[in-house]
Amino acid sequence: MPIKIPFTKNKKKNTQQSQSLDADHIPKHVAIIMDGNGRWAKKRGLPRIAGHKEGMSVVKKIVRHASDVGVSVLTLYAFSTENWKRPKNEVDFLMKLPIDFLNTYLPELIERNVQVQTIGDTEFLPEHTRKAVEEAIERTSDNNGLILNFALNYGSRFEMVQAVKQITARVENGELSTSDINEQLFSSHLYTADLFEPDLLIRTSGEQRLSNFLLWQLAYAEFWFTEVLWPDFDEQLFEQALHDYQNRKRRYGGI
Ligand code: FPP
Repeated sequence: MPIKIPFTKNKKKNTQQSQSLDADHIPKHVAIIMDGNGRWAKKRGLPRIAGHKEGMSVVKKIVRHASDVGVSVLTLYAFSTENWKRPKNEVDFLMKLPIDFLNTYLPELIERNVQVQTIGDTEFLPEHTRKAVEEAIERTSDNNGLILNFALNYGSRFEMVQAVKQITARVENGELSTSDINEQLFSSHLYTADLFEPDLLIRTSGEQRLSNFLLWQLAYAEFWFTEVLWPDFDEQLFEQALHDYQNRKRRYGGI
């Protein structure tokens, strides 16, 4: 008999209600595109950065909840390779968010046995951002609970091109032959090499696209969309997404 986790009823559901989560079928890896911060702020006559700030407190709530229900990996799309095109003040603010977040919550993350990781080209982050993230990675490296994986300066196409370059170099120096190249080898050259593939992708704000996020890794993930803007997202909606996931039939191309 699967253990049932109590499920909180909530008015904001965008699909059918249910009472419980099956603790044996919690998605191992949940990836989230946290979208709609700018629109949330605009609706309130606030600057866009106010939406990002509010979004940060939602990150805190969802990390806690993901850890409580037993998700193994939570990957959050915090900054894409395309986000550099935004106005400088917004980019600067987004680059400060990981610092603020970690300054405030690192002790709690440590206490909760969370391990911080990143995917993306973090080498090109401003030094203060990179240092804060590196410190969090270092200080949580012995933890073995939830992996909180921030996608920072992440772009899936860049990631794949980089994997192709690394594999080509290994073929050129004779370490590998072309016949060694397969899906597993390719996956092992991605930032996510050591992680399970995402089981569930959540995107908020009504947009239904991938925006260069984990294009390879999401091949068999279930997608879950909500009109709710990220700053309004909460634990109940997260549970709803998990619950809907549990009602999907994953066939991986079979019948
Ligand atoms: C997309 O909304 C959101 C982002 C580009 C940034 C996401 C960042 C956070 C939610 C905070 C991250 C917190 C930590 C701890 C790193 P948008 O600005 O594109 O919204 P819009 O589509 O309404 O304009």
